[in-house]
Amino acid sequence: MTTARHPDLPSRPVYLDHNATTPVDPRVLDAMLPALRGDFANPSSTHAFAAGPARLLAAARAEVAALLGARPEEIVLTGSGSEADALAVRGAALAAATRRGVRPHVITQVTEHPAVLAACEELRTRHGARITVLPVDAEGRVEPADVASAITADTVLVSVMHANNETGTLQPITEIAAVCRERGVLLHTDAAQSVGKVPVDVDALGVDLLTVVGHKMYAPKGVAALYVRRGVAVHPLVGGGGQEHGLRAGTENVPHAVALGAAARIARAELADGEGPRLADLRDRLAARLAGLLPGRVHVHGHPVHRLPGTLNVHIDGTVGHELLAATPDVAASTGSACHSGSHTPSAVLTAMGLPGTDALATLRLSLGRWTTQADVDLAAVLLAAGADGASA
Ligand SMILES: Cc1ncc(COP(=O)(O)O)c(C=O)c1O
Repeated sequence: MTTARHPDLPSRPVYLDHNATTPVDPRVLDAMLPALRGDFANPSSTHAFAAGPARLLAAARAEVAALLGARPEEIVLTGSGSEADALAVRGAALAAATRRGVRPHVITQVTEHPAVLAACEELRTRHGARITVLPVDAEGRVEPADVASAITADTVLVSVMHANNETGTLQPITEIAAVCRERGVLLHTDAAQSVGKVPVDVDALGVDLLTVVGHKMYAPKGVAALYVRRGVAVHPLVGGGGQEHGLRAGTENVPHAVALGAAARIARAELADGEGPRLADLRDRLAARLAGLLPGRVHVHGHPVHRLPGTLNVHIDGTVGHELLAATPDVAASTGSACHSGSHTPSAVLTAMGLPGTDALATLRLSLGRWTTQADVDLAAVLLAAGADGASA
């Protein structure tokens, strides 16, 4: 388990926004540097310079595959999670619809990341697809029976995220996968927020496509991957040089691929070393401290058990989330609202879970990570409670 301070992460403000992005692990940075120096060549070149980068790329792909229980050839590297989601949703739906000669029907659910919802919308407007958006319950979970009832003869793809980025709620993917398997429908899961935080194994989950995002697991921004189960057809979004098994043309970004591989290797070791329970304890300590300081005013959202260990989605009665964070500059976190040109609207995720607007606008997303300590969460609780007392005074 990592306990030393991150060299670039100050102790104040307390960084509790790991679901937005994680700091780069210094070990990841060290691992990628050779690919920015001597191993700079194009891995597809035929001369001697290419051997090093080609080896690094293959090793990185194998590390990502190992974290997911996949085969290296099932990993398609992309430039972002949004791109991986688009490749999965559009690419797999269109390929399956072409093969089956149907107008595609895709099932998703209301709390998906905008990357998935936008890919569905694109399928609808540009490709005439029919899209079903399933509801969630008060804890943010989809009912697998609802997936079963929504499947029709033309359903080609179901896309349900593994963990929600705002609440941390984990979806019942294994149960949904059983439904999809039985009905011959492909299943994609966006695991951007769960990979590296909880065990993620593509066979145990039973998924056909799975999104992994580097900057949520201590690699830099701008690298991600899509797991594509062997035999699943996907139409490419970008054609050209045939890289990434013909699914994503473009000279490979070897330094970032190496970073993702190193991040995957470290995540596997940290998971085995108890990082999940450590974060869950800190998350629960933070919630308990807040509740102790503000009796009766603290409400936690999301599933009480099936939830990411490091995510605390919480609202405090009598506060407005963005005002509380503005009054508490020593805590760096996110709110449950979206800000458009200065006006705040309640988060679509919380609204879909049935939260009243005022509660959603009061919500904070406090997300912990590899270098978060007990002292950090204790300090954050005291600072937020003081800010909340000020707000209600
Ligand atoms: C659940 C989820 N999916 C996809 C993405 C998009 O990843 P990227 O920022 O790499 O496009 C994010 C990032 O916020 C996310 O949380």
